Parts: sequence; structure tokens; C-alpha cells
Amino acid sequence: MTTNINNMNYNVNEKGYYGEFGGAYIPEMLYPNVEELRQNYLKIMAEPDFKKEFDQLLKDYVGRPSPLYFAKRLSEKYNTKIYLKREDLNHTGAHKINNTIGQILVAKRLGKHRIIAETGAGQHGVATATVCALMGLECIVYMGEVDIARQAPNVARMKMLGATVVPALSGSRTLKDATNEAIRDWINNPVDTHYIIGSAIGPHPYPDMVTRFQSVISQEIKWQLKEHEGRENPDYVVACIGGGSNAAGTYYHYLHEPDVKIIAVEAAGLGVDSGESAATSVLGKEGIIHGCKTLLMQTPDGQITEPYSISAGLDYPGVGPMHAHLAKTGRAEFMSIKDDEAMNAGLELCKLEGIIPAIESSHALAIFDQKTFKPTDVVVVSLSGRGDKDLQNYIEYFKI
Ligand SMILES: Cc1ncc(COP(=O)(O)O)c(C=O)c1O
Repeated sequence: MTTNINNMNYNVNEKGYYGEFGGAYIPEMLYPNVEELRQNYLKIMAEPDFKKEFDQLLKDYVGRPSPLYFAKRLSEKYNTKIYLKREDLNHTGAHKINNTIGQILVAKRLGKHRIIAETGAGQHGVATATVCALMGLECIVYMGEVDIARQAPNVARMKMLGATVVPALSGSRTLKDATNEAIRDWINNPVDTHYIIGSAIGPHPYPDMVTRFQSVISQEIKWQLKEHEGRENPDYVVACIGGGSNAAGTYYHYLHEPDVKIIAVEAAGLGVDSGESAATSVLGKEGIIHGCKTLLMQTPDGQITEPYSISAGLDYPGVGPMHAHLAKTGRAEFMSIKDDEAMNAGLELCKLEGIIPAIESSHALAIFDQKTFKPTDVVVVSLSGRGDKDLQNYIEYFKI
């Protein structure tokens, strides 16, 4: 089926839905918090003062704009034109900081002085701990016990930045379980606490708010590509998807541009059919997780399937509602990349371009071995993070 994308809306509607996905499926106890945010987020984001502070911090603190780099040797190898959007060069090493800067400014304007967050790879935890230090606010980060072990450098960074890291001990002890703990905390602390969700997931308005903060990525790609290629639109935009925030930001200004094809890259773990994966678009069915209706990996009787990926940032059993909608309507092509394919693509980028990518981003890079592009195609890949946090995993995997 091909969809006429001119007739489709890929942004959130006034009810908080992307097509049939999204909404706010929350316990009554959370309603006041989520409703307060829903009523205020767009108003706050439109305030000139807010915009000024956000833009200034992105420039002077985060180091934006992040470069759009033409990867010459990688392009030669795959006989197409590959550009890397260098979110790895942001302060704290990933795209996550764009969103945490935005949300901490919202939280301050809502009078909150206690911040909680969930984290998988630790990048969002570090980005949250960073902005809390910057603003002098208390910070508690929930993180699965398994992730604490495989992302030890980020745990140390969060602690140095003054955050309390609380292990999540239930389920697969990864991102989903950390999110459950954070939601539990928010229910118990409804008045003074803001929950900084780190991906384009959660109840409305989170997916839209996070997407708007991350949309700076495609906003910059437009003028940067114009400088490089004389046109704002690439032929393809490519990003890996955990919950979907770097992808949402990379796609945002291209969602309604029919000449720009969208590729979403999920983690296939040990293989889509292995029972050890996080390939939600293939294995997922409509369900509710962490406050939104989306595609979700689940058993026939609706229990959430434990996800697996070598990458701590991608092993989430769902995708954000925008991405579920992009999958369902066929606007985005979803590809699944296995652990070993991602690891090899990561090492290849090191050797060809002198850039050590995060394992999450390596999944996006691995598509060039699976899909052939035309020599004239311009393909922009979101290099969502740097590989410093993954050094131990690379060392063990390649026996370096
Ligand atoms: C470097 C990096 N890329 C991608 C992701 C996946 O998150 P999202 O899908 O929200 O961009 C993470 C999550 O921790 C990450 O650290």
C-alpha cells in the first residue's frame, strides 16, 4: 500500500493523537501533573523569554549548531552521498541534552524544584543531571540494574554531577523498568516534581514536547544542506529508534515533504525471530505502555515482552506514537539491524572517518550494508551520540 502523504497529518492533533496512536492513558493520581503540563507547554514555549533562554543555552552551553558532516570515505565505500548530523558533538555526547534543556526551563516556569528521570544508556540521565546542576535543582535518575552495569561510565558521570541514581530491579531491569519506577515516584510526589521523559514517548503532551525540543536537528539540517548541496531536502533521512526522540527531531521538518524518504532503524538484537530483539515495528501490536497507545511488543494475552539489544538505548519494547503512525501509514520505512551488524558498522565508522559512534547510532549506520542507494542520493544520518560510554562493550565485543 502506498500512502498519499500530502493528505496525511504526521504531527500530533489537538487531542494528543498521531493517527490512532498517542493519547494520555494515565492513572488518576497522575492527571493533575500531566494536565498542568498539557495546558502550559505550548504557552511557555511560545514566550519570547523562554525562546531566548533556550536558544542561548543551545548555542553557548550545548555547542549548537552541531555540524552536518559530509562523510567522504564512507560515501565512497557505499557509492552514495552520506552526511552525518553530528549530535555526538553536543555537550554530554548525544542529542538528549536538547530536550533536557527545554524541559528544565519548562519545569522552572512551572515552579518545580525536584526533577526525576529514567534512563537506558545513561545519556538521558547524564543530560538531566547536567541541566539540574546548571539550574541548581535536585535530581533523581532511575536506571535498570542491567544498564547500570553496562553503562558504568555514565553512572559515574551522573553521580559526579550531583544526581542520585536509583536502580530499577524489576522485569528485564532495563529502560522499561526504570520508566515504571519514575512514574511511581511522580505519583508519590505530584506537587513539587517534574518528570523529564527522555524520549518521544509517554502520555500526551510528552511525545510532542520532546519532538519540538529535538526538532532543532532537522531545522539545522535544512540550512546546512542548502550550504553543502544547494537544496534543503535530502533524499533520505535516517535515524535509530529507541523511543524515538533523535528520529523525531531528525524527521520533524521533513514529515510533510513528500520528496524526502524516511528510514527508521530498530534494534533486531540477536535476530527479529530469535525472541531476543527490540524490533517493535515488526513484532509489535497496538497496546498501551507508559501512558500512550502505540505499537508494543507483547504476548498474545497482552503482557509486555522483555526487549533485548546490545544497545542500552534501543532495548525498549515500544516506539513513540509518532513512529507507530509513521509505520502504520507507510510514511517511514522501518529496518531492523542485528547486534553484530551494528557493532561492525560502528567499527567501520571509526576506521573510515575517525569517529567512534554510540552503539545506538551504529544501528543507523548499518543500513548501508542492507540497502543500496543511488550515487546521486543525499542520505542524512543522525549520529545521535558518541561511543565513549560504549568503549567497554566495543572492547569486549572485538577483543581489542
Ligand atoms: C546515543 C543515543 N542514541 C539514541 C538513543 C535512543 O533514544 P531515542 O530513540 O529517544 O533517540 C539513545 C538512548 O539512550 C542514545 O543514548
